[in-house]
Amino acid sequence: MPCERALVSSPATIANFGPGFDSFGLCLESPCDRIAVRRLPKGRHEVRILGKYKLPNRPDQNTASYAAMRLAELCGHADAGFSMTIRKGMKPGSGIGSSAASSAGGALAMAALLGIRNKEVILEASAMGEELVSGSRHFDNVSAAIYGGFTVVSDLKTRTIIQIRPPRFQIIVAIPEISVETRRAREILPTSIAISDAVCNLGWASGMLHAMMKRNVRMIGSYLDDRLALPYRIRLVPGYEAVRESALKAGAYGVSIGGSGPAVFAIAQGRAASIRRAMVEAFRKAAGLRAESFITVPGPGAKVESIG
Ligand code: HSE
Repeated sequence: MPCERALVSSPATIANFGPGFDSFGLCLESPCDRIAVRRLPKGRHEVRILGKYKLPNRPDQNTASYAAMRLAELCGHADAGFSMTIRKGMKPGSGIGSSAASSAGGALAMAALLGIRNKEVILEASAMGEELVSGSRHFDNVSAAIYGGFTVVSDLKTRTIIQIRPPRFQIIVAIPEISVETRRAREILPTSIAISDAVCNLGWASGMLHAMMKRNVRMIGSYLDDRLALPYRIRLVPGYEAVRESALKAGAYGVSIGGSGPAVFAIAQGRAASIRRAMVEAFRKAAGLRAESFITVPGPGAKVESIG
């Protein structure tokens, strides 16, 4: 049923999750964006940003409202008017799927307003929001944000998304005080790669799926590696090797870069507080960078909190 107002929450996500460049995504329980929409007369769009992060408030430039407009268009309501209030729960350009949280939240909020439940349309509109920010319509973050848990974009052409319920483990995230634009982090990737690297990733990605389905957290950690993007992006994350080493030494099962960085995440079962301290300390010592950090677990995905 269409309604007058809706409030949604939309979570942070970790794209690539080691060997799954542009295909694996893990949804986090927190942090989340909160997006409220209400109907306005046809053709009118307003955007209000709350909180400490500065974001565009022009409706055609803000990721959340842009995705909402694309959703309305895809559903045959191109002229739907709305007012949107966005409380950003995560720092843009940090590697934990900030733009995906905005676009998935915006698309879901609009879908709630129009009474649309079709997740495929919500996914498509969300990916358009991603494209606005990064220049590429990648689905890994938005799939995880919308479906929750661990997701695999198994066929981009047919938009086939596999959902796997992950076991419970801790995810420790450290975000150094620099930002990396996804657009730039994609531009530095080579256009072709050695077959030996492709074979290596194929093995790791298959191992990761096996480990997820076996719900074996130690094994999941052992497959957190990548030869497609990570080797080229390490230079965008000063101190990465030191942070990785110190997290493993403190008891993490595996470490990698979140999406296009600069967030570095570790997974563990226990000792999360020590791992977090070790990662933050390593960023400071190895790169002279302060880092924000938090501990979370896999989450259920974006949610309509209320409608009215
Ligand atoms: N898969 C994308 C990339 C995620 O690594 O460029 C960006 O957040």
